[in-house]
Amino acid sequence: MLKTDRPFRLRRCQLAVPGSSEKMMKKASGLDVDYVFLDLEDAVTPEEKKPAREKIVEALNTLDWGDTTRCVRVNDPASGYCYGDIIDIVAGARERLDVIMVPKVMGPADVLFVDKLLTQLEIDLGLTKSIGLECLIEEVEALVQVDEIASSTPRLEAMIFGMGDYSASQGIPFAELAGDGDYPADIWHYQRQRIIVACRANHIDAVDGPYPDFNDPDGYRRECRRALLLGATGKWAIHPNQVAAAQDIFSPSAEEIEQARAIKAAYDDATARGLGAVTYEGKMIDVALIRMAQNVIDRADVIGA
Ligand code: COA
Ligand code: MG
Repeated sequence: MLKTDRPFRLRRCQLAVPGSSEKMMKKASGLDVDYVFLDLEDAVTPEEKKPAREKIVEALNTLDWGDTTRCVRVNDPASGYCYGDIIDIVAGARERLDVIMVPKVMGPADVLFVDKLLTQLEIDLGLTKSIGLECLIEEVEALVQVDEIASSTPRLEAMIFGMGDYSASQGIPFAELAGDGDYPADIWHYQRQRIIVACRANHIDAVDGPYPDFNDPDGYRRECRRALLLGATGKWAIHPNQVAAAQDIFSPSAEEIEQARAIKAAYDDATARGLGAVTYEGKMIDVALIRMAQNVIDRADVIGA
C-alpha cells in the first residue's frame, strides 16, 4: 500500500460539477469516476451561491454515488462565503461528504483556518469520520509558499495546480492557457515540478487542473501525460467526455504492471539467494529501479489491476 497515514482515495480523475445544477449532479452520480467535486466557486454565479449549498446537500444525501469520492469546492477564504459554505455543507451532509476543497489559498494560514473550522464541526456535530481537505495552488503567493502549505496539516490530502487563475495571477497571456502556445517549452513545467515535489515530499496527491477545451481529446491526453510524467496522480475533468482518458492515463498499463511485478520477483528471488547484483532480461536491476517498480505495483494494487 502507499506509504501515508492519510486515507487513500483514487484521484486519477476529479470531475468538476456545478453545484447549482441538479441535472449535472445527478448525471455525475451515475458516472464511473474516481472523484467528483460539487462546485460552489467559479461555476456558480453570486446569486446562486447560497441556494446552491442546499442543492449540494440534497444531492449528497439523496443520490447514489457508489464508490465515487464526494468533495465540495467551497468559495475561497478571502470571500464572504467560505465559512458559511463549510458550515452548511458539513452540517447538512455529515458523513456523506468526504473532502472539502479550498480554492485560491494564499498561504498555510488559509488551510489552517479551514482545518480548524472542520475540527470544530466534527466535534460539535459528533461526526464519526474525519473530513479530508485539499487545496488549489493558483496564486503566485501560494506557489512561493507551496512547501509550507503542503506540510501545514495532516488533514491535507492533495494539492491541485489551477492553471487558469494561476495565469491571471502571474500575468501569463490567455493564449498560453491550453499549454500549446508560443512559449518554447511546456509553459507549466516549473509550476508542475514545484507543486508535485512539494506533494511527494509530504506524501500527498498532486492533481493537475482543468483543460477547458472538452472537444480537444488529443490536447487533453497530452496534458494528462505531461502531468503524469512528473509524478501527478490525476487530472481534473470539466466534462464527462474527459473522464475515461484521465482514468486510463493515470493507471499503469497491463504491460507496465507485468514488468514491474517481474522485476520485483527477480530481485526478491536473487536477494533470497544472497546475490547482490541482480539481472533481469539481460540488464542489471538496481535498487532505484525496484523503487520505481514498487510505485507501479502500489498503484496497481489500489486500482485493483
Ligand atoms: N458534470 C456532470 N454532467 C455534465 C457535466 C459535468 N461537468 N458537463 C456536462 N454534463 C452533462 C450535460 O448536462 C449533458 O447531460 P445530458 O446528456 O443528460 O443532457 C451531457 O453531460 C453532455 O453535455 P454537453 O451538452 O456536451 O455540454 P453542456 O453544454 O451541457 O455543458 C459545460 C458544457 C462546459 C457548461 C459543462 O461541461 C460544465 O458546466 N462543466 C463544468 C464547469 C465547471 O465546473 N467549472 C469550474 C471548474 S473549472
Ligand atoms: Mg480557480
